[in-house]
Amino acid sequence: MKIAITGANSSVGQNLLAHIASAADIQAIAGVRSAAAFASLPQSPRITPRVISYTDGDNLVTALADADCVIHLAGILIENKHTNYTSANVDATDAVAQAAFKAGVKHLVFISVVGASTSSANAYFRSKGLAEERVAAAGLSASIIRTPILLGSGTAGSDSLLAMAAKGKTKVLGGGHYTQRPLDVDDLSKAILSVCRAQPEGVTIHELVGPESISYRDLILRVASMQGQEVEIGSVPIAIAKLGAGITSKLKGGGITPTVIDVITMNEHVHSNADTALGILLTPLQSTLEKIIRTI
Ligand SMILES: NC(=O)c1ccc[n+]([C@@H]2O[C@H](COP(=O)([O-])OP(=O)(O)OC[C@H]3O[C@@H](n4cnc5c(N)ncnc54)[C@H](OP(=O)(O)O)[C@@H]3O)[C@@H](O)[C@H]2O)c1
Repeated sequence: MKIAITGANSSVGQNLLAHIASAADIQAIAGVRSAAAFASLPQSPRITPRVISYTDGDNLVTALADADCVIHLAGILIENKHTNYTSANVDATDAVAQAAFKAGVKHLVFISVVGASTSSANAYFRSKGLAEERVAAAGLSASIIRTPILLGSGTAGSDSLLAMAAKGKTKVLGGGHYTQRPLDVDDLSKAILSVCRAQPEGVTIHELVGPESISYRDLILRVASMQGQEVEIGSVPIAIAKLGAGITSKLKGGGITPTVIDVITMNEHVHSNADTALGILLTPLQSTLEKIIRTI
């Protein structure tokens, strides 16, 4: 099977490529935006790095030609001076979906987020909802996988969790009383490859979350305790954090905004977990945490 991946240098992309390096039946085109991003990709005879442009339709069609399945990973939570939700989340997804259709690709996998909705008041969730809409309208069969916070080597969620747990004394948004359903990034990679192999008809939205519901506060305490450490957790009131973020992000032209704070502090909840439908045996949270601690 031939697959093409966009945003291959992302944390999910790195993990997926590591899975592909040991999958004898897969050849992958690893699409990145710059030659500099090549250096971060795993070396394997099964993986061919390629520079792609999301604003050049012909370039995208050529890059995706021959692929049985395209996996679109490029996307952002944190805007900056050079990129925003419209270009990175909506327009890039639209360009990839249209190019995949033109290239005759059989199936498209899009990684979205739990909470994505075209009618959300939150600009990030709205952009992911709009991106899902573009995928569904592109004319090819697709699997949209909505994920919660991802834990695994190099994910933003793991990096900040490990940093918080190592501090001894730390302050978190609202005392960390919001609930998360952390998903092991290895499980996401397995789910992605599973739908690529199955190429189901039509367009399906899956909500895939981890096996355990836990407050962010308890997650930090657990990681600290697993390392034989203690951490005192204080609270930054969310309203004050949003006020500060609103001013700082305007001055800097991006970074942590009130929108990002609302995403981080959302209670992650799904009506039905897609693990069974996707044929995934979820990694217990304890094992995921042991894995990320081993990477320190
Ligand atoms: N990490 C999580 O906890 C989480 C949770 C839910 C959903 N997701 C989704 O999963 C996907 C992968 O996430 P990740 O955390 O692994 O990503 P990541 O490590 O933050 O990497 C972001 C990727 O998006 C690319 N990108 C940034 N701006 C872009 C633009 N304007 N046009 C096209 N590409 C652009 C980056 O390319 P450059 O390096 O060239 O900038 C990079 O390849 C994303 O779609 C994300 O929304 C992640």
